[in-house]
Amino acid sequence: MQDRKIRILQILVVPVAAVLVAAMFGTRARAAGKAGYTVEELSPSMSYEEYEKRYKEYYGDATARMAEEGNPADFLLDDGRDLANKVEGSKGKSCASCHGRDAMKLKGAATHFPRYDAAIKGIMTFPMQINACRVQAMGAKPLKYESYDQLALTLYIKSLSNGMPIQVSIDGPARPFYEEGRRAYYKRQGQLNFSCAICHIQYAGYKARSNLISNNKHHTDHWPSYRLKWGKTGSLQRRFRGCLKNMRAKVPPYQDEELRNIEFYLTYSNNGDLIQVPGMRM
Ligand code: HEC
Ligand code: HEC
Repeated sequence: MQDRKIRILQILVVPVAAVLVAAMFGTRARAAGKAGYTVEELSPSMSYEEYEKRYKEYYGDATARMAEEGNPADFLLDDGRDLANKVEGSKGKSCASCHGRDAMKLKGAATHFPRYDAAIKGIMTFPMQINACRVQAMGAKPLKYESYDQLALTLYIKSLSNGMPIQVSIDGPARPFYEEGRRAYYKRQGQLNFSCAICHIQYAGYKARSNLISNNKHHTDHWPSYRLKWGKTGSLQRRFRGCLKNMRAKVPPYQDEELRNIEFYLTYSNNGDLIQVPGMRM
């Protein structure tokens, strides 16, 4: 598995180096962030339609067949609903005590996450909000990120927003965190000096041996997702960490500031995409 990843990266180094040279001489847009640094915006080398065509050519009916067999992550939904109705903690409450039976009043809540939160002076992700309610409103223990219960509850509450468009706001005090996220997305890092943007914007649709690099539209609308490679359901941040590992870069812990800012930037750029959880990926 490690060997395969290294080969993927080696194959990418040549085209990516060519892009870097092209970027030095070609036209480029400069956007100044609030914090005073500049980000060199990249543009996709093919349209989203062309990318989708390549995706279908590349994976054929493999993903359709996977979908037919059903999504193993669906099994988490029932457990998530049970957790939403379960009384826990020192205050004798469940999510349902405040958010209605089966927490149905939280329909639509996931559309505006992540959001800026004044109390933490930073970005509040959906899993963090759920834990904040457990701790503050229920007097219960926070759920460990990426644990079965944490994923099940997050997945269930998020599924209440299925079919609704992502509507993240970057207005006011949220803006600098969006800029930070964008900067992190464009930051070259790791032993191979890649950035997320080089792959997911500029090189989206290109093949890297056994992987097709995905266009970042729709990157945030389907998490938590089941991944065949993990044999497990996982979060968007788990996926970020996987890519960072492939880049041979530092991998921050779950809900670390950098991962939250990237999630904020990326989710905002997916505004309008319809939430559909759980997703399923190779
Ligand atoms: C004692 C009442 C109470 C309980 C119990 C409670 N919450 Fe909340 N929750 C609130 C309040 C009040 C808000 C809105 C204020 C805020 O954003 O902090 C909120 C906000 C939320 C939001 C964001 C809604 C939005 O539209 O922005 C989510 C998601 C959420 N709660 C999930 C949960 C889950 C899941 C549980 C159970 C683990 C839970 N809550 C338990 C009171 C509660
Ligand atoms: C070397 C190229 C490369 C870099 C750099 C890279 N990724 Fe990826 N990423 C991929 C590939 C290839 C996939 C799809 C893999 C697959 O099909 O399993 C992927 C998948 C993803 C997905 C899942 C998409 C989906 O539809 O489920 C997300 C989210 C993601 N990357 C985010 C990031 C972030 C954030 C960074 C920077 C921290 C990053 N990636 C850096 C190559 C890259």
